[in-house]
Amino acid sequence: MSGITESFKVIETGYKERDNDFLKDVREGLAADSKHLSCRFFYDKKGSKLFEAICDLPEYYLTRAEREILVDQAKAIAAQMPENVTLVELGSGSGVKTQVLIEALLLQQMSLLYMPVDISSSALEDSAQVFLDRFSNLEIVGVSAEYQRGLREVRERIKGPKLVLWLGSSVGNFTRLDAAQFLRDVRASMRSDDLLLMGVDLRKDRAVLEPAYDDAQGVTAQFNLNLLERINRELGGHFNLDAFQHKAVYDENEGRVEMYLVSTREQVVAIDDLGLGVSFEEGEMVFTELSYKYSLTEIETLAEDSDFELLHQWFDGKKRFSLNLMGGVCQMKCVNDH
Ligand code: AVJ
Repeated sequence: MSGITESFKVIETGYKERDNDFLKDVREGLAADSKHLSCRFFYDKKGSKLFEAICDLPEYYLTRAEREILVDQAKAIAAQMPENVTLVELGSGSGVKTQVLIEALLLQQMSLLYMPVDISSSALEDSAQVFLDRFSNLEIVGVSAEYQRGLREVRERIKGPKLVLWLGSSVGNFTRLDAAQFLRDVRASMRSDDLLLMGVDLRKDRAVLEPAYDDAQGVTAQFNLNLLERINRELGGHFNLDAFQHKAVYDENEGRVEMYLVSTREQVVAIDDLGLGVSFEEGEMVFTELSYKYSLTEIETLAEDSDFELLHQWFDGKKRFSLNLMGGVCQMKCVNDH
């Protein structure tokens, strides 16, 4: 019998993405003076597939660089962990990278409890099956929830030390201010000696960054345009995908890549579920995603602003990407509730 029923459970927290979240975002975003759509909605079935394809692109160095650090440093990272640590992960999409760490942890403890937090129960199940097939002394308890809610759920149940894993430079989607706020919330939902291991992409030359977000095969373009396709599929939109172009620019001052969809002509696009037509001028841009890059100083500042102490930092060979182990600082401020 497969182990999945014995070593795998999901805690459901009743989170449901409301159908009209997307409708609301589209209504507000396309009525605004500077049009925008939220990158939250990239990841439907098709978008998630396209994102996986992005991770394999030659130009998209992020995933490979982060995997390289994990492979090279897994032992060093594991050596920083307290005994019998529970591994918590924000998101459940990082399969191979997470396995590297699980393997290293299982070399120094008899068994491991792994708790991925993801709004999608099906994503939790898919990754759990692969992990359980590979590791026999692994127990998985998935938490189907938004990150903050999920972390509180984990905190209630787990009394021992935890490592919270947040890979992929997902922090890049937050403004610097929002990133600090989010991490403060994460910190507040951890116990005093818990640790956070966070992947953060580094500032670098525009000549490397722009192709990473505008690849030769046009996969990132498809990923971005999928937002319009999704409006067509789910909201009765009538976007002609040939009349919009993908654009990615690096703003060096802000240290962020900005993605847009550009209307290549003057046009009016009907969206049935909104009961209206949206007008676009030729060259008008719809802003869709920010992807912040950090300098080492900016990572230090982010840690300080969110009540973390940066304990360790690891890089890939070309110093394109960083893994940051954070914890500690609020020993006094946090209630010690062990
Ligand atoms: C998943 C937010 C880390 O910003 O690099 C990839 C998303 N967008 N290509 C990133 C993304 C376009 C990705 N993150």
